[in-house]
Amino acid sequence: MKKILFLVSLLISASTTWAEQVVIQTKNTTMVLDVEGDKQPQYVYYGTRLSDYDLQNLQKPRSGRMDAYPAYGMNCPAEAAIAIRHADGNMSTVLGSDYVDEIEGKGNNREYRIHLVDPVYPVTVDLCYRAVYDEDIIETWTEIKNGEKKPVTLTQFASCSLPIRRGNVWLSHFSGSWGNESNLTEEPILAGQKVIKNKDGARNSHTDHAEVMFSLDGKGRENSGDVIGAALCYSGNYQLKVETDDTEYHYFFAGINPDNSEYHLKKGETFATPKVAFSFSKCGLSGVSRNFHKWGRKYMLAHGNKERKILLNSWEGVYFDINQQGMDQMMGDIASMGGELFVMDDGWFGDKYPRKTDNCALGDWVVDKTKLPEGIEGLLRDAKKHGIKFGIWIEPEMTNSVSELYDAHPDWIIKAPKRDAVKGRGGTQLILDMSNPKVQDFVFSVVDNLMTKYPEIDYIKWDANMSIMNHGSQYLTMNDQSHLYIEYHRGLEKTCQRIRAKYPDLTIQACASGGGRANWGVLPYFDEFWESDNTDALQRIYMQWGTSYFFPAIAMACHISATPNHTVFRTTAMKYRIDVAMSGRLGMEIQPKNMTDEEKALCRNAIAEYKQIRPIVQFGDIYRLVSPYDKKGVASLMYVDEQKSKSVFFWWKTESFQNEHLPRVKMAGLDANKNYKVHELNRIDLKPMDVEGKTFSGAYLMNHGLEMPYRNEPEWSKKSDWSSRVLLLDAE
Ligand code: GLA
Repeated sequence: MKKILFLVSLLISASTTWAEQVVIQTKNTTMVLDVEGDKQPQYVYYGTRLSDYDLQNLQKPRSGRMDAYPAYGMNCPAEAAIAIRHADGNMSTVLGSDYVDEIEGKGNNREYRIHLVDPVYPVTVDLCYRAVYDEDIIETWTEIKNGEKKPVTLTQFASCSLPIRRGNVWLSHFSGSWGNESNLTEEPILAGQKVIKNKDGARNSHTDHAEVMFSLDGKGRENSGDVIGAALCYSGNYQLKVETDDTEYHYFFAGINPDNSEYHLKKGETFATPKVAFSFSKCGLSGVSRNFHKWGRKYMLAHGNKERKILLNSWEGVYFDINQQGMDQMMGDIASMGGELFVMDDGWFGDKYPRKTDNCALGDWVVDKTKLPEGIEGLLRDAKKHGIKFGIWIEPEMTNSVSELYDAHPDWIIKAPKRDAVKGRGGTQLILDMSNPKVQDFVFSVVDNLMTKYPEIDYIKWDANMSIMNHGSQYLTMNDQSHLYIEYHRGLEKTCQRIRAKYPDLTIQACASGGGRANWGVLPYFDEFWESDNTDALQRIYMQWGTSYFFPAIAMACHISATPNHTVFRTTAMKYRIDVAMSGRLGMEIQPKNMTDEEKALCRNAIAEYKQIRPIVQFGDIYRLVSPYDKKGVASLMYVDEQKSKSVFFWWKTESFQNEHLPRVKMAGLDANKNYKVHELNRIDLKPMDVEGKTFSGAYLMNHGLEMPYRNEPEWSKKSDWSSRVLLLDAE
C-alpha cells in the first residue's frame, strides 16, 4: 500500500501554540478531536456524520474530562489510560500534542497519528486512528516509545479511552464458561466502575468477551437507536473498563490487562498496543453488528470473501477412537450427504506414547501407526476417493508431561521458577512458552511439517485446551517475568504470521476448548472459530446470538450433532438441530453410522439447500429480530444479501406450551418496494405452509410479518416439541 505522508496544515497562532480539528470521517459517522499545541487532544464528538457547516459550529462538551489518552501523575484523580514509571523513578507523565500526521489509505480510508510528547521526559506516544470508510469503523491504538537512556516501566497501557455522554446508556456484554460461551448481558451503566477482564493467559473468550456495545438512548434495540460498538483486537488477557463519576460522561478504556504484566520498555523500544475497533450506528445493535461483520470479512478474517466448505468433524462421532477404517467410513458418509470436507480430530498421533485419551502425546505430531497403519497418506487417498477434502486436528502450543517433546525439552514449558508446574487436562497438560523463539520455531514446524509432507491437507483445526496456570517463563529473564502474558501472544502472532506467509490458502480453525478464541486478535490468521463444545441446538441459539454481535456467520462453526446431546443430554428434533446450525457455518459433529436413513436424508437435503443459501448466510447482512434472551418463546433473525434481492429468515421456538402465544415476527432489512417469493427450506411438514410460493412486498414483511405455524406437522410418529422454520425470500 502506497503511503503518502504529509503534515496537515496547522493553524499557527502567535509563535508557539497551534490548534487543529482532527476530523475522522467514515461514510456515516464522524469523530472529532481538538488538538492544540502542548495540550492533550480532546474528544469533541463521535456520532452521525457531520456536515462542514456543523463541523464549524460544533459545540464543545461541558463538564467532562475529554482527554484522548489520559496519562497518570499530574492532576490525576480519575482513571488513566497510561501510567509510566520513568527511568529515574518519577511516576508522573504529561502528554501534550506535538504534531499530527495524516496518511492516505485505500479508497477513502485515512489514518491519523497525533504525536504526543512529555515536556520533561523523552517518552512519546502516537495516538493512532484509522478510518475504515465504507464500513463505518474507526480503529484506534497507541505506540509508546521510550527515548530515555534506560528502561521505563509501563504499568498501564490501554489502547484507547473514549468518553461517552451519560443519558440512560446501556451496556451489552458477553460472558460465559466452557460449554456456555457468549451469553448476552444487557445492563444500564450506573455510577462506579464496570470492569471486564480476562486472565486466562492463553485464550480469552470463554468467560467474558473483549467486545461491548453501548446503547446511547436506553436499552438496546436491534434495529433502531444510537449504538457504539467496541472490539479489542487481541488474543491475550484484556481489560475493559467503564468509569462513571460525577461528570456528564462514562469513560471507556480498553486494552491489554495490566495485572501482573508491567512492561519494561527498553531504550529506543516502541510498545504498540492492540487496536480497538469502534463503530457507531443509528440502526441499533444489529446495525453495529453489520458494520463489524463487513469490516471483519473485508479486513480482518482470513479469507473473509471465500465460501466455507461443509464439513464433518470426527470428535463427537468417535472421540479418541480413530482408525483408518472408521475415518474412511465417516468420509464416505459425509461425502454421500453432500459434504465437502472431513476433519480428523484428536487421537491420531503419538508414537512412544500413543494418544488413547487426553493425558499424553501433545507435541508428538507423528501418526499413531497402530491406529493408522497407512498414515495420513492413506487418509488423503480415501478423501480423494470420496471426492472430498481432508483436515486434521492439532494443538501445537501444548504438550503433556508424558510426551517425547517434554522428555526432550522440559525447558520449553511455562512454569514458575523453582516450582513444579500445575498441570491441566488429563493431569499432564502443559503449555509451551511461546515467548521462546525456539518454541515459536517448533510450533511453526508442526504446521510446516504436516503441510510439506501432505500438501493436500486443506484444513487445520488448531486447538488450545489450557489456561496459563503457572506464572513463569524459563526463557524470559527474572527481571522480565511480568512480560509473560504479553510475550506469549506476541510469539503466537509471529508464528501465525509465518504460517500465513507460507500457507496463505490453508483453512485454519481457531478452537480453544470450544469458543475460547473467538476474538479479532487471532482471526486475521484463522478462517473461523469453534463456537462451543456444547452443540445442543437450544443452547446454541443463545450462544450464537451473543457471538453474532461482533462476529459474522462465516466465522462461526455450527455443527449438527447427535441426541441426546453429549453435553446437556437434551433431545431435540433433527430438523431443529439442522435449522440452528444452518444459521452459521454449517458442519456436522456426529457418527453418521448411527444415524437413521431418514436422518441422513434430512441432512442430505439440508446440505443441498445450505449450498443455495450459503452466500446469503456467509456474506449477507444480519438483522436480529427477536432475541432468545427476551424469553418470548421464540427467537428469530435473518440475513439479507447486499442487493436486498435474497434473504433467509430463521425462526426457532425456544419453548413449547399448549395454547402459547408467540409474537408475529416483523422482518427487517428488505427493500420495501420489492416483492419477495417465500419458499420454506428443510420442510418436514406433510403440507406446505400457507405462504409457500406466495409473494409479499418487503413493506408488508417488515411492517406486518408472516404468521409461523407454532408446530411442525410431519406425520404423527415424527412430531416433536421442537419447532423451527427456515424461509428463503427471493425478490421477483
Ligand atoms: C477441545 C475441542 C474439541 C475437541 C477436543 C479434542 O475440547 O474444543 O472440539 O477437539 O478438544 O480433545
